[in-house]
This record gives sequence, structure tokens and C-alpha cells, in this order.
Amino acid sequence: MTLAWQIFTCIACVALTVVSLCNAGKLPPPTNLSHKWLDPFTVTVSWSWEQPHNLPNNCKIKFEIHRVDKELNKYVVQTEWRHFTNSCLTEEMDSDYWNYTIRTISNPHCEGWNDSLSVIATVHTTKPRAELVKDFKCNLDPKGMNCSWIPLNRSLNLTLSYRKCGESDELIKTLKECDRYYRHGMRDGCYLNVDDRYTCINAQTEAALSTFKPLLVVPSPHLTIKQVEKNLRLTWTPPEVAVNCDWIYELCFKRCNEQEDCKNITEKKAETNEPYDDNCFYEFRSRVTTGHYCPRVSSDFSEIQTYGSNKPPDETLTVAAIVIPIILSLCVMLSCLCFKRHRTILCPIIPDPSALFKEMMMNGNRELKPTEERVYTPVPESTEPCNIEKENSVPQQNS
Ligand SMILES: *[C@@H]1O[C@H](CO)[C@@H](O)[C@H](O)[C@H]1NC(C)=O
Ligand SMILES: *[C@@H]1O[C@H](CO)[C@@H](O)[C@H](O)[C@H]1NC(C)=O
Ligand SMILES: *[C@@H]1O[C@H](CO)[C@@H](O)[C@H](O)[C@H]1NC(C)=O
Ligand SMILES: *[C@@H]1O[C@H](CO)[C@@H](O)[C@H](O)[C@H]1NC(C)=O
Ligand SMILES: *[C@@H]1O[C@H](CO)[C@@H](O)[C@H](O)[C@H]1NC(C)=O
Ligand SMILES: *[C@@H]1O[C@H](CO)[C@@H](O)[C@H](O)[C@H]1NC(C)=O
Ligand SMILES: *[C@@H]1O[C@H](CO)[C@@H](O)[C@H](O)[C@H]1NC(C)=O
Repeated sequence: MTLAWQIFTCIACVALTVVSLCNAGKLPPPTNLSHKWLDPFTVTVSWSWEQPHNLPNNCKIKFEIHRVDKELNKYVVQTEWRHFTNSCLTEEMDSDYWNYTIRTISNPHCEGWNDSLSVIATVHTTKPRAELVKDFKCNLDPKGMNCSWIPLNRSLNLTLSYRKCGESDELIKTLKECDRYYRHGMRDGCYLNVDDRYTCINAQTEAALSTFKPLLVVPSPHLTIKQVEKNLRLTWTPPEVAVNCDWIYELCFKRCNEQEDCKNITEKKAETNEPYDDNCFYEFRSRVTTGHYCPRVSSDFSEIQTYGSNKPPDETLTVAAIVIPIILSLCVMLSCLCFKRHRTILCPIIPDPSALFKEMMMNGNRELKPTEERVYTPVPESTEPCNIEKENSVPQQNS
């Protein structure tokens, strides 16, 4: 090999390396983005991607997808495919579209190739989203769920479809139309033949749609209250649904009209004992919610259930509070009356000595006797103690 040849090979090598390094740089971003709704809940976004011809063989690129929610970039997935599917519920968005950002990402074998810039895929719902129903809730029972709602506009023909939430092909096939509509007072309803607590609902009118997860409810617990020695034993039946879930029972009670006290009971045995004061009237109410590891299911508070009654200590107090003042006032009245009747005994009228003297001077002994009689009235008094007029007439001194 000549030196010239060696130099040539060397230069060629360097040149090749430089060229290949110069060609490296940012990976190209995805292009030609499009999307398609597979059902009311699931959208699939696809794109094209042109591979640079000089990409190293073991550089296997991927696409990374984020969903932009408000200022947040929520990671969705990394994929080698040129598409991805995602579930979207209209309750999760604050405008009428979702933005996904997609970029091509490199791996350590892609010498010199950096991640691409992000491109945005904007996904609109098939119809404008709108709030069509209010207070949508589903009563769970072992066979399905009895859902009801208040329609926002009764003159619109609302249709409901539902399936288990998720984005797999199998789940998409399970979408069902509601076929057991009913009307009950202010509320419209439909019975769904699905007892899955991960159900997603789609409500549609001709012009708008909304997709959401329903509020799941169960009947309020009914308490059985029994006195056991010095305690009240409260028992109840756990909900018939979601048997694998832990339930939290919120028990509130009022005793003797005191402030209501609440506590949460998480034990599985569906029973609690409360110290019982048998002089007290008790009021109980309760509700139930699922614990941490289950989708939220809850009940309203039950009707108030009562036990016992407020007894003697309170009643005697009440009685005393009413009767004692009555007795007292009666006594006062009677003693007043008595005092009035027997005033002359209790406080005899003492004749005015000057008047007596004057009378004596003017009328002599003739008039003295009746005056003396006045002083000694007791005799007629004992026979007619109540004659007040008579007494009043006596002291008239001008006669
Ligand atoms: C690739 O990324 C590295 C580190 O961020 C940077 O130093 C380099 O300039 C980038 N190369 C290109 C071609 O953008
Ligand atoms: C864009 O995508 C559509 C459908 O996926 C396809 O028919 C079309 O050829 C693509 N265009 C380019 C430039 O890749
Ligand atoms: C969504 O993307 C569009 C461009 O495609 C942009 O104009 C808009 O501001 C983006 N919205 C959000 C919330 O990022
Ligand atoms: C669903 O609830 C409504 C209203 O409470 C009731 O009239 C109806 O019988 C329930 N349907 C079933 C199947 O339980
Ligand atoms: C209810 O829907 C009907 C039919 O689309 C419409 O004419 C009416 O204005 C709507 N009423 C309200 C209160 O939105
Ligand atoms: C309401 O919608 C259902 C299903 O789309 C249809 O069968 C029915 O005829 C509609 N009723 C009215 C009054 O438009
Ligand atoms: C009981 O649990 C409920 C719901 O989990 C909560 O709102 C309430 O504050 C709790 N009450 C007590 C007394 O801990």
C-alpha cells in the first residue's frame, strides 16, 4: 500500500464521519396528523413519519405523547406505532377540544440524533359538548344500575349510551344503547344492564353531547338498634354491591337533645356499641361511602331513627318548673285573701284617741259605749268572719 493510498483512505474516513455527523441533528417530527373517534369516548390519533436515510440501524425511534390540560402536560404514552388511542370524557376539559403534543424521541444508539420538536394534534368532539343533564346519578343494585337525571331541556330527545371506561378494542365493542327509559316526576331515567363501577356514560341530543362518569349511589344503611346491658348495639346490612370494597360508615347521633356527634366506622363487622343512658332520647342517622381502593360509591344520609325517651330527671324538672310557681302563686293569693278577711284580728283597728276624746266631750257616755264596742268587735266576727261591709261601716266617725 502506498503512502498516498493510506492518506486517501484516512481522508475518506474522516470525510465520511464528518458527513454522517453533519447529517445527524434533530429527528424529524411526525407529519400529516389526523384523528378519528372510535366511539363517543375513544379517539385515535395517527400521523406519518419519514425516516432519515442515514439513521443508524440500531436507532429505534419512538413517539412520545402528552395531553395538554390547562398548563399541565399530562404524559399519555410512548409508542413505536404511528398512532395511539385515548379515552376522553368531556367533563375533563375546559374548552371544546383537546391538544396532544407528539414528538419523535431518540435512544442512546442514535448517535448525534436529538429528539424532534413537538407537533400539536388538536382533537375536537364530534358534536359541540354541552351540559345536557343535571344531577346524574345511578343507584347500584346487584344486577345493574338504575340511573336518573334532571334534563336541562325536556323538549330535546336525549339518548344515552354506556360501556365500561377504557380504550381497548374489546371495550369499544361493548358500547350499549340505553333501552329502558322511564320518567319519574321531575327526573328522567334509564335502567342500565351493567353492574360495573367503572362505567362511562354518553348523553347526546341532535346538536350536542357530553360524556362523563356517573355518581354512584347505594341505599342508605338501615340501623337495627337494640339495648344490650348498658349499651346500645347498632347493626346494619352492608350494601349488596361492591362486596369486595371496604366501606366507611358515618354514624351520627344526638342524645338528650345535645349537639350531634359523628364518627366513622371502618370495621367489616357492620356493628357498633354505644354507651346507653336510658334517660335519654336518641336520634341516629347514617350514610356509607367506599374506602380508598374502590371507585367512589356513596349513599345519602338515612332518615332519622330514634330510640328511648327523655325520662324522669327531665320530666320532674319540667313539672317542677311549671307546678311550683303555680303552687306558690296560689299560696300567695290564698294568704292575701286570708289576710284581707282576718285583717281586723291580725291588725285590729285602733280608734284615734283624739277622735275618741272629742266624741266623749261632745256626746258624753251615750256614744262612748258603741265606741267601746268597736274595740271589742270579736264577738260578731266569730260568727260572720267574712262580712267586710259591716266592718267598713263601723269606723264611720261622722255619723
Ligand atoms: C442535541 O442535544 C445536545 C444536548 O441537549 C446539544 O448539546 C446538541 O447541540 C444537540 N444537537 C443538535 C444537532 O441539536
Ligand atoms: C396523510 O394521511 C392520509 C391518511 O392517513 C394519507 O392518505 C396521506 O397519504 C398522508 N399524506 C402524507 C403526505 O403522508
Ligand atoms: C391547542 O393548539 C392550538 C394549535 O393547534 C393552539 O392555538 C391552542 O392555543 C392550544 N391550546 C391549548 C390549551 O394548549
Ligand atoms: C328505577 O328507579 C325508579 C325511580 O326510583 C323506579 O320507579 C324503578 O322501578 C326503578 N327500576 C328498576 C328496574 O329498579
Ligand atoms: C329547548 O330545545 C328546544 C328545541 O331545540 C329549543 O327551541 C328551546 O329554546 C330549548 N329551551 C331551552 C330553555 O334551552
Ligand atoms: C328520539 O331518538 C330516538 C333514537 O334516536 C328515536 O328513535 C326517536 O324517534 C326520537 N324521538 C323523537 C320524538 O324525536
Ligand atoms: C368521615 O368520613 C367522611 C367521608 O370520608 C368525612 O367527610 C367526614 O369528615 C369523616 N368524619 C369524621 C368524624 O371523621
